[in-house]
Amino acid sequence: MISSTNVFAHRGFSGKFPENTMIAFEEAGKFAIAGIELDVQLSKDGVMVVIHDERLDRTTNGRGFVKDYTYEQLLAFDAGSWFHSQFANHKLPKLSEIIDWAKQREESFIVNIELKNDQIHYEGLEEKVLNLVEEYQFKDQVILSSFNYESLVKIRELDQTISIGYLIQGIHPTAIEKAQKINANIHCDEAYALSEEGKRAKEAGLELRVYTINNTNEFEIVRKAGADVIMTDFPDQFA
Ligand code: G3P
Ligand code: MG
Repeated sequence: MISSTNVFAHRGFSGKFPENTMIAFEEAGKFAIAGIELDVQLSKDGVMVVIHDERLDRTTNGRGFVKDYTYEQLLAFDAGSWFHSQFANHKLPKLSEIIDWAKQREESFIVNIELKNDQIHYEGLEEKVLNLVEEYQFKDQVILSSFNYESLVKIRELDQTISIGYLIQGIHPTAIEKAQKINANIHCDEAYALSEEGKRAKEAGLELRVYTINNTNEFEIVRKAGADVIMTDFPDQFA
């Protein structure tokens, strides 16, 4: 353990395993991580699917948009071979499967669910995620984050106590005020964490959870700047 900073495995152990697949989360879980980060899109039949991109093309052998396939159709795609042939036929997991797995771990283990609704408006995604978390009685172990501020406002209207992370990129001048308005913390990149704004956010009592740090020097710098969580693709090196 390099430091006592909480480490989240970003998209699972995505440095060595195909991102956002069950094996990537299981392998990340072998290290002393505080939690995992994952990305959620919605299938045609309303299933919350764990995949980063809106499209299938980069991380599966499928083509086109996740939203245009039912979950059963999505299961036909190989989400591992793009990374390495040894992962052929690994599937796109459902969010519920990852929560099921995480529930078997210690109660302090966090799942940071990033709603990928900044490009595509997924009708009802907020309610769906909240209902699933409720169904699994998992609320105390999740952080819901998104680049889509309006979506976070909606989540806060629907649930006054769930943990929310406002995702920003770069040095956002009004992030503190916006986060405070919805009682959220800030999920930011290194530039923000090291900036005057980042310092101001810390002074205002907000947590800074920093993505995505894969370099030892940067990890130390960000940790010293007061990052509360650091997300990395290499939990083996930092946890
Ligand atoms: O949630 C932190 C980070 O994952 C945001 O960026 O593109 O990796 O989902 P991205
Ligand atoms: Mg993400």
